[in-house]
Amino acid sequence: MVRIPAGYKSKEEYVHAIFSSIAHRYDLLNSVLSFNRDKSWRRFAVAQAGLKKGGLGLDVCCGTGMFAIEQAKVVGFSGKVIGVDFCENMLARARINIAKTPYAKVIELLHGNAVNLPLPDRRFDCATIGFALRNVPDIPQTIAEMARVVRAGGKVVSLELCWPTVPVFKQLYYVYFNYLVPVIGRLGAGASGPYAYLPDSLKDFPDPDQLKSIFERAGLKNVRYFRLTGGVVCVHVGTVE
Ligand SMILES: C[S@@+](CC[C@H](N)C(=O)[O-])C[C@H]1O[C@@H](n2cnc3c(N)ncnc32)[C@H](O)[C@@H]1O
Repeated sequence: MVRIPAGYKSKEEYVHAIFSSIAHRYDLLNSVLSFNRDKSWRRFAVAQAGLKKGGLGLDVCCGTGMFAIEQAKVVGFSGKVIGVDFCENMLARARINIAKTPYAKVIELLHGNAVNLPLPDRRFDCATIGFALRNVPDIPQTIAEMARVVRAGGKVVSLELCWPTVPVFKQLYYVYFNYLVPVIGRLGAGASGPYAYLPDSLKDFPDPDQLKSIFERAGLKNVRYFRLTGGVVCVHVGTVE
C-alpha cells in the first residue's frame, strides 16, 4: 500500500506533488536508474501500438514527452500525437524536450486526468501509457478511458515496472529497487520522498496476469504481454473491438 504522508488528502494529490517536485530531474534519473534501458523499452512499446505514418497517437500520462516523441517518429510529419498529463511541471519539461526534436508541430500537449480523458470516443489509432499505471488513482478506469478513445482495431499499450521472476536476478533486483533506488533518487532529486515512493508504488500493483485481466475486463481483445530485460518491465497490449 502506498503510504500517503500527512498533509495530502489523496494518492492523486501526493503523486501530483511528487512529479511537480522532480520534473527537472526526471529524465536524467530515469536514464540512470534504468541503466539507459528506458528508451529502448519505450521504442518496443510503441512498436506494439501498430501506429503508421500519418496516424493519430495518444500518450496518456505523457510526463516529459518521451513516449510522445517515440510515437511522432512513427507517424511522421503527416501524423499527429496528443500527450496528456495532469502535472504542469512535467508538461513544461515535455515542451522543452519536444522543442529539441523536429516534431514540435506533430505533438500537442493537453492538461488532463487519465481517469477522465478530455478527448472524444473512438478517435485514436492507439493509446499508450508508460510508467504511470502505478500512479493513477484507478487503474481499471484509466484502461477503460484509453479503450474508449481508441478506434476499432486500434491498440491500448502499457509499459510498466514489474518484479522479475528469474532466481538470483530477482533477489538482486529486489535489493537494488528497494534500497539503492531511493538513495540514488535522493541524491539526484535532492529530496528523499519522491524516490522512496517508487518501490512503494510497485508493492500493490497488479502482477502481469492480473493486469491482463484488467485489460480484458475493459473489453480489450487479444490481450498479451511481454516481459523485457529479465522481467523488470512488462508491456501489455490489447486491441479495441
Ligand atoms: C513516471 S511518470 C511517466 C512519464 C512518461 N510516461 C515516461 O514514459 O517517462 C508518470 C507521469 O504520470 C502523470 N500522472 C500521474 N497520475 C496522473 C493522472 N491521474 N492523470 C494524468 N497524469 C498523471 C505524472 O504527472 C507523471 O508525469
